[in-house]
Amino acid sequence: MKLAVAGKGGVGKTSLTVWLGDYLARQDEEVMLLDADTALSLGQALGLREYDIPIPLIQDKELIRERVGEGFFQINPKVDDLPDRLSKQVGKLKFMVMGTIADAGSGCACSPNALVKALLAHLIVQKKQWIIVDLEAGVEHLGRGTVEYVDGMIVVSEPSMRGLQTAARISVLARQIGLERQVLVLNRAPADFTLPDIKGLPPLTAKIPVLPSLAARQLESSSVLDLAERDQLDEVAAEVIAALKK
Ligand SMILES: Nc1ncnc2c1ncn2[C@@H]1O[C@H](COP(=O)(O)OP(=O)(O)O)[C@@H](O)[C@H]1O
Ligand SMILES: [Mg+2]
Repeated sequence: MKLAVAGKGGVGKTSLTVWLGDYLARQDEEVMLLDADTALSLGQALGLREYDIPIPLIQDKELIRERVGEGFFQINPKVDDLPDRLSKQVGKLKFMVMGTIADAGSGCACSPNALVKALLAHLIVQKKQWIIVDLEAGVEHLGRGTVEYVDGMIVVSEPSMRGLQTAARISVLARQIGLERQVLVLNRAPADFTLPDIKGLPPLTAKIPVLPSLAARQLESSSVLDLAERDQLDEVAAEVIAALKK
């Protein structure tokens, strides 16, 4: 399956992307995580040092010039070698930094987008491989270009009104584009939290509490892997995937 993870900033999108990927990889699934945000956060959440995190594809001017050209650009650039060339292996996971794909489907004629679009189109036909796209925060960038390549979306929110309102807006927008398969995951949520009545939210599928071991390690490491609460996170991942497969 090809999934996207969306939500307000800071709610846990990147962490959940890694937890899902890590769970699937341990089930012997082939997994590629895509950072479609502008920051380095997915690499950091995987425990990589900043200097080990590749530059985003959309900033790789040389590669873009080589594949897409300038002026009269190639609309079907060669991309089949790029996943191997640009992705990094972290344990059993593959990960690639793409940069924001906001305009990838908007008909924008700029060359970085042409390359991202071609690469995504190439990746989605690899049926066996799971792809989980860690999206940029918020609603503004969410468009056809962002979600046309995925068949499911995980909307993440904290148990706050603002987070949930953003979640609902994201969800409605994605549905308008035709992405019906969605779940809501509440992060940092007490077990007894009940959802306020907000229209448009996807079905609530899992809750993740504040994770003491993650909070405790923040000063030394930004990795979200190998936590003491892994079994609990595996259960969340299994629930989310089962709900999306329905
Ligand atoms: N359930 C949780 N318990 C404790 N800390 C968390 C939890 N979820 C996320 N975090 C921490 O909160 C910060 C923001 O999470 P992140 O996944 O980067 O959010 P986003 O990608 O939505 O901006 C990170 O430092 C992460 O380690
Ligand atoms: Mg993030």
